Amino acid sequence: MQEYPPPSTVWIDGRLTDGRSAAVPALDHSLLTGFGVFETLAVRAARPIAPSRHLARLQSSAATLGIAPPPEQSIQDAIRAVLDSFPLPDARLRITLTAGDSEGIPFLVSAPPRLIVAASRLPARRDTAILATAPWQKHADGALVGIKSTSYGDHVRCVRHARQLGADEALILNTNGHICEGGSSNIWWVRDRVVHTPPVKSGCLPGITRGLVLEICRRDGLHIRETEAHPATLLAADEVFLTSSLRDVQGVSQIDTSNLPPAPGEITTLLLNSLTDWLDADPDP
Ligand SMILES: Cc1ncc(COP(=O)(O)O)c(C=O)c1O
Repeated sequence: MQEYPPPSTVWIDGRLTDGRSAAVPALDHSLLTGFGVFETLAVRAARPIAPSRHLARLQSSAATLGIAPPPEQSIQDAIRAVLDSFPLPDARLRITLTAGDSEGIPFLVSAPPRLIVAASRLPARRDTAILATAPWQKHADGALVGIKSTSYGDHVRCVRHARQLGADEALILNTNGHICEGGSSNIWWVRDRVVHTPPVKSGCLPGITRGLVLEICRRDGLHIRETEAHPATLLAADEVFLTSSLRDVQGVSQIDTSNLPPAPGEITTLLLNSLTDWLDADPDP
């Protein structure tokens, strides 16, 4: 039985506390308007995975929204403090940077940003996932495209919808009808040994794991294409898989009512093994 509430350790406003007593002020911008940025990364055997890439994306997301991030050393110190007091060697680490307190005027950012670092239980990895196509689309030119923003309600709604249908993850299309991404993952497919994923201009998040897998493909001589495609392409693929910091590389066995070829397939497994070996040897590539 899962312990509830799960163990969590939180750093907020320069102080370490446990997840139950950590509190955000009622006028925090992120709470009122979703104006903030975040990162989620895995911690395995007490080592954060790809922290430099995640911190670089946090800085870039914050800069795009005009939120001044604290010095990187203070984020690193907060991460260390949280991990030193979290009781488990594996964790899900969430770094949130809100636009600070709004003083009641949500469109003005007048306060210093608020840094929150939280460690909680790392969900077990599963080999495969079932996707359900979301009935809502992502605007490829939306104001928050490419930013890992705390405005996440549309993704939460898509994933809740998928879960209600018995699936694990949502398949989100963009308003052009093209494959975009999962609710909290990037999507890939393999056809005739060519590995495809949607381009960033589809509106997908440029995932850290997506970047690592693209590098592995290039290094290992696999043919890759960033392809705009309709969802029927997935049903005709030899393999479909997802990537994210918590899933790594995960095969897809079913989309809506259609069964796909047995998953994880050959190239999916190869990429998972290459990623695992790389991160074991170098957790901060
Ligand atoms: C919408 C979305 N796309 C893709 C990803 C995968 O990104 P990453 O590999 O950086 O975890 C995530 C991760 O949470 C996400 O929320």
